[in-house]
Amino acid sequence: MKLLVLGGTRFLGRHLVEAALARGHEPTLFNRGRTAPELFGGVERLCGERDGELTPLRGRSWDAVVDTCGYLPRVVRRSAQALREAAARYLFISSVSVYADPSSPGQDEQAARAPLPSADCEDIPAHYGALKAACEDEVLAAFGTRALVLRPGLIVGPHDPTGRFTYWVQRVARGGAVLAPPSPDYPVQFIDARDLAAWTLDLLERGGAGVFNASGPAAPLTFGEFLEGCRRALGSPAEFVWTDARFLDRYRVAPWTELPLYAGDDSRGMNEISLARALSAGLRLRPLGQTCADTARWACGMALPEGVGLAPAREEQLLRAWQAR
Ligand SMILES: NC(=O)c1ccc[n+]([C@@H]2O[C@H](COP(=O)([O-])OP(=O)(O)OC[C@H]3O[C@@H](n4cnc5c(N)ncnc54)[C@H](OP(=O)(O)O)[C@@H]3O)[C@@H](O)[C@H]2O)c1
Repeated sequence: MKLLVLGGTRFLGRHLVEAALARGHEPTLFNRGRTAPELFGGVERLCGERDGELTPLRGRSWDAVVDTCGYLPRVVRRSAQALREAAARYLFISSVSVYADPSSPGQDEQAARAPLPSADCEDIPAHYGALKAACEDEVLAAFGTRALVLRPGLIVGPHDPTGRFTYWVQRVARGGAVLAPPSPDYPVQFIDARDLAAWTLDLLERGGAGVFNASGPAAPLTFGEFLEGCRRALGSPAEFVWTDARFLDRYRVAPWTELPLYAGDDSRGMNEISLARALSAGLRLRPLGQTCADTARWACGMALPEGVGLAPAREEQLLRAWQAR
């Protein structure tokens, strides 16, 4: 397949390009040449700003476009419209954040999506999910039955720039008492970027279309099972100290950022989305231990982004406060 990847060099796109090359496809990358420009020597790279002139895309044709870096409907509309005749299919990477109600479990692809507060809203941090939903509509409007929309949950694994899953892997590897969220029964969902990349290509190779949630694992996973699986994969002597919501609240421990993957009760549903459609469309997920071990190898000695996870001194102080309560 001749594939145009809008993006392709940070995390998911990077795995996608690697997998496409391994399968003998012909990727072309369109990006600004800022992120990891040294990657993929020998692969065609078109340099451009997707919110600017799309001239490098003119006069070309592709079997499929994969859009990994669309955040604003105005910008996604430009590429979807420009490529309507030039590409057979357009696959847009959206997010489970599109759903209007982040608290309810079992939401499938028909669940209501978050609305934008106004048509001209471009505040990505405040309205990421609603903007992604509006981007989906642009792709669906331009490509109709030739469009594919994937809504991943948390994407994890080597090269993850967010540090969220990586925090737990590094923390468990360090051992000792690990401050854990309120309950070992809290649900978690995530997808290894390499599994998402492989399935993206499977769908395109098969000519699939439509909208799919995309996360894992196939069977529900609890936080307790996640941390235990991580401990086993890393052969770590870590011990988990399960807390409670009142304690976290009292010490202002921020869910999701200080305790990544724990989204609190308000957003618990984002860890319980329905994967039935994706699994029946061939989504395959590697064992947790493999993702943990590969992430640990990749992240060994690496600093996490500022504000992600608990700094050691803060964690120690919280553990002391928990024991003394
Ligand atoms: N991380 C998660 O947990 C998560 C969860 C759900 C959904 N998602 C979605 O998954 C996708 C993941 O993205 P990724 O960063 O891993 O993708 P990626 O394709 O690996 O990296 C982003 C690419 O976009 C290019 N780019 C950024 N701004 C651009 C612009 N204005 N014009 C042209 N190119 C531009 C960057 O290159 P240059 O900088 O060189 O331009 C880079 O190649 C996103 O759509 C995100 O919303 C993520």
